[in-house]
Order: sequence, then C-alpha cells, then structure tokens
Amino acid sequence: MHDTLKISFAPLSATASGLVVCLVGEDVALSSETAALLAPAKDLFERAAAEDGFKGKSGSFLDIIAPEKVAASRLIAAGIGKPSDWKELDVIKLGGAICARLPEASTEATVILATAAGPLDAGQAADLALGLRLRFYSFDRYKTKKKDGEAGAKKRVITLLVADEKAARKAYKAREAIADGVDLARDLVNEPPNVLYPTEFAKRAGDLSRLGVDIEVLNEKDMKKLGMGALLAVGQGSVRDSHVVVMRWDGGKDGEAPVCLVGKGVCFDSGGISLKPGEGMQDMKGDMGGAAAVVGAMHALAARKARVNVVGLIGLVENMPDGNAYRPGDILTSMSGQTIEMINTDAEGRLVLADVLWYAKDRFKPKVMVNLATLTGAIMVALGQENAGLFSNDDAVAKGLTDAGLVTGEKVWRMPLSTEYDKLMDSQFADMKNTGGRYGGAITAAQFLKRFVGDTPWAHLDVAGTAMNSNKGDLNRSWGAGWGVRLLDRFVADGYER
Ligand code: BES
Ligand code: MN
Ligand code: ZN
Repeated sequence: MHDTLKISFAPLSATASGLVVCLVGEDVALSSETAALLAPAKDLFERAAAEDGFKGKSGSFLDIIAPEKVAASRLIAAGIGKPSDWKELDVIKLGGAICARLPEASTEATVILATAAGPLDAGQAADLALGLRLRFYSFDRYKTKKKDGEAGAKKRVITLLVADEKAARKAYKAREAIADGVDLARDLVNEPPNVLYPTEFAKRAGDLSRLGVDIEVLNEKDMKKLGMGALLAVGQGSVRDSHVVVMRWDGGKDGEAPVCLVGKGVCFDSGGISLKPGEGMQDMKGDMGGAAAVVGAMHALAARKARVNVVGLIGLVENMPDGNAYRPGDILTSMSGQTIEMINTDAEGRLVLADVLWYAKDRFKPKVMVNLATLTGAIMVALGQENAGLFSNDDAVAKGLTDAGLVTGEKVWRMPLSTEYDKLMDSQFADMKNTGGRYGGAITAAQFLKRFVGDTPWAHLDVAGTAMNSNKGDLNRSWGAGWGVRLLDRFVADGYER
C-alpha cells in the first residue's frame, strides 16, 4: 500500500466543487474570489464562524459539511492571519496544515482556492503545494491490513486555483523535484535493515542514473586498493558487503570544482563488539540518515536540473559483532595514512567518514564539502532535536548553512571546533583514538573528522537528533524525516548555482 498525491493547477475561474479549501485572513478577511465563492452560503458561513469563534487566525480552521447552495461537498476555511507578514516557510507550513485537515476517510477531489489578500503569486502557490506534499507522506509499505473504512491505497488529487496556472506549474516543478527527494530520503530511512543493507542501498542510489546522475559503486576490492582501512574495518563483521557510492551531477561549468556532499550510511549500527544495549536498538536502522539525505538531495538537484557541479558520496556499511568483527584495541590505517586505535567499535561513523571525506577531497578537489551523519548521541544532549549540530572550519560555509536552515526550517546550530579538544584523542599506540570520552562527545567526533578534510572548506552536520524519530511537525509525520534534503538543496542553490 502506498498513498499517492497528485497536485494540479487550474485558473481561478474554474468551478470549485468537491472538497473546497479557502484561505481566510485575520478578522475574517476575504479575498474577492473567496467572497464570491462563499456568497451563496454567506449566511451559513458567518453563523458557523461566529459559533466556532473562527476569526481567520493563523492555524485555525473552520469546517462546514455539505453547505447548501454551494457546489462543494465540504468547505474548509483555513485561517492565515496576516498574509502580508508571510515568509516562504509560513506558506509551506500552511500547505502542511491544510493537508492535515483533509478528512482521512475521503479521497474526494480537493480544490484549494489559492487567494489570500489577493491571488497567491506562482512561487507561493508552489510553496503551498510543496507543503501539501511534505505533510502527505507516510510509510505503509509493510502494512498488509487496512485501517477501518479504508479502501486500500489512497489516491488523492488536489487542484490549486491560481491566477497564472502556467507560472505556478513551472514554479512547482522545482518544488516537486525537492519533495520527491525528501520522500526518497524518508523511504530509505524508514526501510528495515534486513531490506536496506549496503548493496541494496547502493542499488537504490543507482536509480538516480535515470535522472542523468553518473553512478559509480565501489566494492570491497576497490576500497582495499584505495587503502580505505577504516571504513572496511567497520564492515568486516557483517556478512553484507560494504560500498562507497559516488553520484555525479554535472549541471555546472565544465571543469569547475564541485560541491561535495558526503553521507554516513551505517545501514544498521549494533555497536559491534562494543555492543549497544538492547533497548531502542531497532532505531539504529536509521543510522544511514546522512547518506539518505545526500541521495535525496542529489535527486532534487538532478530532477530540477540544477546548474552546478555536485558530487554525492556515501559510505555504506553494517556494523555487526562477529568472529571476524573489528575489536577494541585494533589499530587501523586510514586511506589518509593516519592510524587510529579502536577504543569503542560503536564510534564507527567517524571511521567510515574518515575514508570517504579523504577520498572525496583527494579525488574531486571540491570547492566546499559538507557531510551529514547521525554521528553522536551527545549532539542530542547538547541541542535536543530541533537543531542539527553544525561544525565548520569556514565561516562563510557555516553562514550559508545557517541561512539555508532558517529559510527551510531545517535548522542548524553552530558548535565549536578547536585544537584544545585534540588531546582527548591522543593515543598511546597510534596517531589517535577513535573516541574522546564523554565530555564534549559531539565536538571530539567533529574534531576527529576535521583530520581528514585537509584545507577544504568543510562543514559537518551531526543529524542524530533530526534525521529520525524527531519531533513531528506541520511538514513531517514520518519517523524517517528526510531531514537535510531541503537544507542542502537550498545551500547549493543560494551559494553555488550560476
Ligand atoms: N549512530 C550512533 C549515534 C546515534 C545515537 C545516532 C542515537 C542516533 C541516535 C553512533 O554510531 C554512536 O554509537 N555513537 C556513540 C559514540 C561513542 C561510542 C563515542 C555515542 O553517541 O554514544
Ligand atoms: Mn555507533
Ligand atoms: Zn552509528
């Protein structure tokens, strides 16, 4: 079962029938179009609004079933407050809130009259549609039983009535690419670890070739040749093969240095020999949330034909205890040549990233490199689940990500990096240990990664608190949040596209 939502656009002059949503401003301010729609039921609307105390405040709704004299089976008035104050994210969230109000049992054709004070512009109409899409997603692939009264997979069609349907359709195209990228990332995070192991993940990332993304999948033999001793050690206890997938989108100038996006893809993190406690371990199927965001972002960029060169790289492994697993005490040689003493096999993400970051820097000489990783529980202690941790060696990159976070609502909060933390990783036997102790755990992890990026302008996003099992809001009800796709898309669009 998989519900689908189709969005279409029609002119304001089209008849609004079926389930009709209109936008009502503060103090029950109506656009002329909404006033005209409601005119035959003016009395009913006014009485219902008074009865319910509905005044058009943002976030409030008024629901009128089977209104007489109107060609609608149901009227939903969505309060929008003061549209003159709207920011992009407000409109997207409004779309999410409207989607949430559509009666679950019904799949009736739905029409949204996209006028606030006046008609929404094309970008706003498209943003509203994006919000609908983001909120609509659910992951029911493994539910074989329908809920009461449900007729199997739902197909919903929502039509937005807009001033310029052609312009709105065009503006929506880019948003649709982004929404599809987010849905893809959510699917990947939600999939169970028996289905989505590294090879299967690589195969799904490989589907991006349909969009013109160039795909290379490295196998263990390739990685051995490259000397990726850190990444390979993490995967050596698993019966599943490890992979690195390289995804190239060349939408920019020939030969221009790319943006590199790097993701931690631990398809299941048991902790390895340093086994995690049993409680909650099932959540560690989502330890590939960073890689999922990178794949989702590559989808978005390619599907909207972004004019930029981007390379996505993901390190895919499974961290398992086994007779062949890596041990505390083991000393690994990373691709960079630096040696690492294992203290805890559950600090595996940084080992995977150490080799993929080094490889990305070495091979692609990126102008900027951003990695996403569900790296530490410590970042959740520091920031909770509303912000991802941002660590960067470059103020401009940090600002670009912070700004993109505020526009998209995928917020990041900058955390410190500095050499004083390095001594916590000093090892008696090797160049470094793979953990830095309990205090500042998210920072020492970031400080570890920094050793593998050279002088490249770089940022690390610790998404352990945001990629999965995070706070459900207007724009997401799913366990796998798809967090980071919209952030990366916007970061690239605003900072690097020509
Ligand atoms: N994947 C975990 C981090 C994590 C924890 C992500 C909870 C999402 C939710 C990571 O591999 C890990 O185990 N980190 C350890 C590091 C420690 C051993 C230094 C941690 O955070 O406890
Ligand atoms: Mn771990
Ligand atoms: Zn992990």
